[in-house]
Amino acid sequence: MKKLFLSLILSVTPLVALAAGAEIELDHIDTDISDKASLQRGAQTYMNYCMACHSLEYARYNRVAADLDIPEEIFEENLIFTGAAIGSLMGNSMSYDDGAAWFGAAPPDLTLVARVRGEDWLYTYLRGFYQDDSRPLGVNNSVFANVGMPHVLMELQGLCAEAPHAVSERRFDPLTGNLITDGGCENYAVEGSLTKAEYDETIYDLVNFLDYMGEPYAGDRERIGWMVFAFLAVFLVIGQLLYRELWKDIH
Ligand code: HEC
Repeated sequence: MKKLFLSLILSVTPLVALAAGAEIELDHIDTDISDKASLQRGAQTYMNYCMACHSLEYARYNRVAADLDIPEEIFEENLIFTGAAIGSLMGNSMSYDDGAAWFGAAPPDLTLVARVRGEDWLYTYLRGFYQDDSRPLGVNNSVFANVGMPHVLMELQGLCAEAPHAVSERRFDPLTGNLITDGGCENYAVEGSLTKAEYDETIYDLVNFLDYMGEPYAGDRERIGWMVFAFLAVFLVIGQLLYRELWKDIH
């Protein structure tokens, strides 16, 4: 009995630990991988700002070009910076050891990151960098403490002076009732080229692209699913008619 009790406790412990980890509040977005324009903008941001460190090794350029409705020549000219052929896997030239030596942790491949971390986490993470002079690169992150990644989008967002608030933390002035903050970053140590709303939009597109990356078949699957339902609906009628025809003399 004691043993049973102990194993029960042990089996539940990881859940408790997980629940504790999930306490950080994430900002929520609804991604839409059928929005091709958004995916194209996301791919552009990714290729320009992320690809040098993070490969997308389980995908091929030509598949992405086809899915995103980007003609192959245009994709090749504007979005492939490694000189790779359009049919190749989306790797980069950073080796694991170099990455680990330069940043303390090697930048992981991001093909499946949206499935591992979830869209909300990515959205919050990419908007969560803030100034922290105690860190080697001068930045920290609100959802990924002591992160090894530099704030590569600083020229766009600017640098937040303190950890950004969750969007749900809207605060109102108790006297006037005016909105003091709608969450996110409130004070910037360095100004960026985009407004807060524009930056949020850029990150939405980027996360949308990563969401597509994690499951490129999601759109096809949904379409095929509806076709199967349509087939079953038609077949139900045919089946019913056949059933009546075959049984009509038997009763
Ligand atoms: C200069 C190299 C570099 C660039 C450019 C870069 N990153 Fe990173 N990134 C890193 C490193 C290093 C880590 C690992 C951090 C750690 O484990 O502490 C990381 C971690 C991450 C993670 C967390 C992965 C996980 O699940 O642990 C995500 C997500 C991410 N990067 C997204 C991006 C995106 C999106 C871009 C483009 C806007 C980008 N990164 C650009 C170096 C980079």
